[in-house]
Amino acid sequence: MEVLTRESEIAAFKECAFVPTMGALHEGHLSLIRMAKKTNRPVVVSIFVNPEQFSPEEDLDTYPRNLEQDCAFAASVGADAVFAPSVETMYPTAPQPIALPDAATMPQLEDACRPAHFMGVCVAVARLFDLVQPAVTVFGLKDYQQYLVVKQLIVQEENRWKNLKILGAEIIRDEDGLAMSSRNVYLTTEQRKQSLGLHKAISCTTQNDMVETLNTYGLDIEYAVLRSSRSLLTPIDGEPVRALVAARLGNIRLIDNAEVQP
Ligand code: PAF
Repeated sequence: MEVLTRESEIAAFKECAFVPTMGALHEGHLSLIRMAKKTNRPVVVSIFVNPEQFSPEEDLDTYPRNLEQDCAFAASVGADAVFAPSVETMYPTAPQPIALPDAATMPQLEDACRPAHFMGVCVAVARLFDLVQPAVTVFGLKDYQQYLVVKQLIVQEENRWKNLKILGAEIIRDEDGLAMSSRNVYLTTEQRKQSLGLHKAISCTTQNDMVETLNTYGLDIEYAVLRSSRSLLTPIDGEPVRALVAARLGNIRLIDNAEVQP
């Protein structure tokens, strides 16, 4: 497997299957790489801790970083290249704002809690797509709103990344149900038990039950809502419905979601 850092090196992987990440790879990421492999295209995994999507009080400085281990994990499931650009390669000039798709600004969801987050994500993803020029990209459904934002961004910029397809990979969970996340490593033993409240909450079929469940586990709720899986708005009859939760345990922010039958 190759490890690339320069724009000139990544050009050889045009039309690959592309898995953008911020590193700290775990089984969830490996499932994305496995899905990318199934396209029978060369697979490129990017590792870039994107400063643009962290607000000043968030964990940019302490975000787990281990390029060597990440490369070994990516290679173990057959990635053909890791692309680990520097901040200078990603942003040779100050990143320019991009028109945000509708899914980025939904009431009460990520945008309400992390106002600059999706602008940062879209700026990074757009730059990565420009550099890598993939044919397919794989995103995890754990960040469900992010998946919809990027899906809409690809449609919005259809002349920029022609025929780019996005695939959504199912959430990978620990045996007890906790969705895998790079931030789970921060959890103490007590918080690890409390974190199971998220998984319990997303199997509820009313918002009241979701809130009550999160409270029972002592989680500090940011949102607990049932929304249309397609639009993230209030579901209309017959639409698939998704339970989405975000909660804090001390400084650690956790999110989860699942399709439900209300
Ligand atoms: O999901 C992530 O890891 C990041 O938001 C992404 C898509 C790599 C953009 O920095």
